[in-house]
Amino acid sequence: MKEYLFSLEFIYLVASMTYILGLKMLGKPETARKGNLIAAAGMTIAIIGTIFLHKEVVPNYIYGLIGTAILIGTVIGWMIAKKVAMTKMPELVSLFNGMGGASAALIGLIEFEHYTGDTLSTTTIVAGIIIGSISFSGSMIAWAKLNGTLNKPLRLPKYNVLNNLIIIGVVLFASYIAWSGSESQLFIYILFFAALGYGILFVLPIGGADMPVVISLLNSFTGLAAALGGFLYGNMVMLTGGILVGSAGTILTFAMCDAMNRSLVNVIFGSFGGGGDSLVEESGSDTMKGSIKKTTISDTAILMNYSQRIIIVPGYGLAVAQAQHAIHELEQLLASRGIEVKYAIHPVAGRMPGHMNVLLAETNVDYDKLAEMEDVNPEFQNTDVVFVVGANDVVNPAAHNNPSSPIYGMPILDVENAKSIIINKRTMNPGYAGIENELFYNQKASMLFGDAKSVIQALISELKGM
Ligand code: TAP
Repeated sequence: MKEYLFSLEFIYLVASMTYILGLKMLGKPETARKGNLIAAAGMTIAIIGTIFLHKEVVPNYIYGLIGTAILIGTVIGWMIAKKVAMTKMPELVSLFNGMGGASAALIGLIEFEHYTGDTLSTTTIVAGIIIGSISFSGSMIAWAKLNGTLNKPLRLPKYNVLNNLIIIGVVLFASYIAWSGSESQLFIYILFFAALGYGILFVLPIGGADMPVVISLLNSFTGLAAALGGFLYGNMVMLTGGILVGSAGTILTFAMCDAMNRSLVNVIFGSFGGGGDSLVEESGSDTMKGSIKKTTISDTAILMNYSQRIIIVPGYGLAVAQAQHAIHELEQLLASRGIEVKYAIHPVAGRMPGHMNVLLAETNVDYDKLAEMEDVNPEFQNTDVVFVVGANDVVNPAAHNNPSSPIYGMPILDVENAKSIIINKRTMNPGYAGIENELFYNQKASMLFGDAKSVIQALISELKGM
């Protein structure tokens, strides 16, 4: 028994269980932080166990190399993760995901010569090289797109035909390597570079707005590549971890597509949001008619003070302004005056899955106050004031009314049904999808222009004076 407790099998079993538990806990804001720590602890145990309990004889200097690599990786990872702004999180995820893909591909490159002649293992290796390399180079392009280095989609003529031909060529070449029993290192490096090239060409044409979906897809590729490594080594924890990442990434990819009412094919081959935040020309919407109504801090404060029910709709702008603490303070102030206040959370508000939940969790907001779209939509009609803060696409009625709009069919928050709509943003610029928003011209809507944080802080002091 004691022997089993200190065996790698047992350690891997415990680690695998922590991944499953951690993943489950990540599903709820209350438990997400703990879930992340539990899975990370499991990963640490698995790494330590692998280093000290493996059966192979390894020269001592290898331990030194592994220790140094772990130290460098830990310090760099820790420093980057500590410093990163919440709005830059998708970039970071993309970068880290790319590293995972690169590791999986490198395993294949190194192990190829040890398994020549064994068709099953070589197939696993070439598959790991292809998938890992695509994930690496694709993630690097996604990272460059998100941080603005590459801000226009680059489309070669007939890029989708070309890309499909390349991937078919890569797969055929890999099949040849696996089935011919080739020992050629040259071939394996050609395969590696061809897959890297495909990863670049695959992500380059995809619009900036679709990067979170692409990152999630590439994340599932990395999981699959790691699982292939686990299969090659007969390493259960690598296999379980890889499968979990692969399936979670796939589920998330489709959940995001569903929330935007778009197919994955449309994301990969479509041109939605092609130019990122500043794209306006691919809008597909008509120029808006009518005029907007502006409101002031004091009028808004009066309106809010005499309301019974208020719903706050946070969006990307709230994150940009770092106004999460201010909005929480406003919510508490209003609640202390007997007003019922909640937040309506759209599944793709912000720039990454759960962006608004993570942002508001930072302020220790009461999670009961976060309402999901399906639950909150019927409530707007009984709401006195909807306060839209830095959200745009997720409240754009074009999703219901304009079949030529790129967001047509996307489920939105039906804020139009409320009695009054106050919209806070800085300008009349469009949101991520690059399209105008007819909500701003609605009779019941008033624009409260300004940076979200300053506006909310001003509202708080105005309300306090009432
Ligand atoms: P957006 O439609 O991008 O609108 C954000 C608005 O915030 C902008 O119109 C901007 O207007 C305003 N803003 C920016 N900085 C501000 C500041 N400092 N203070 C006040 N307002 C500010 O955001 P959304 O409604 O959250 O929608 C998210 C979009 O991202 C959707 O199109 C969605 O499909 C896309 N997307 C999301 C995800 C995930 S998983 N979340 C994944 C893929 C795509 P001004 O510039 O005029 O201030």
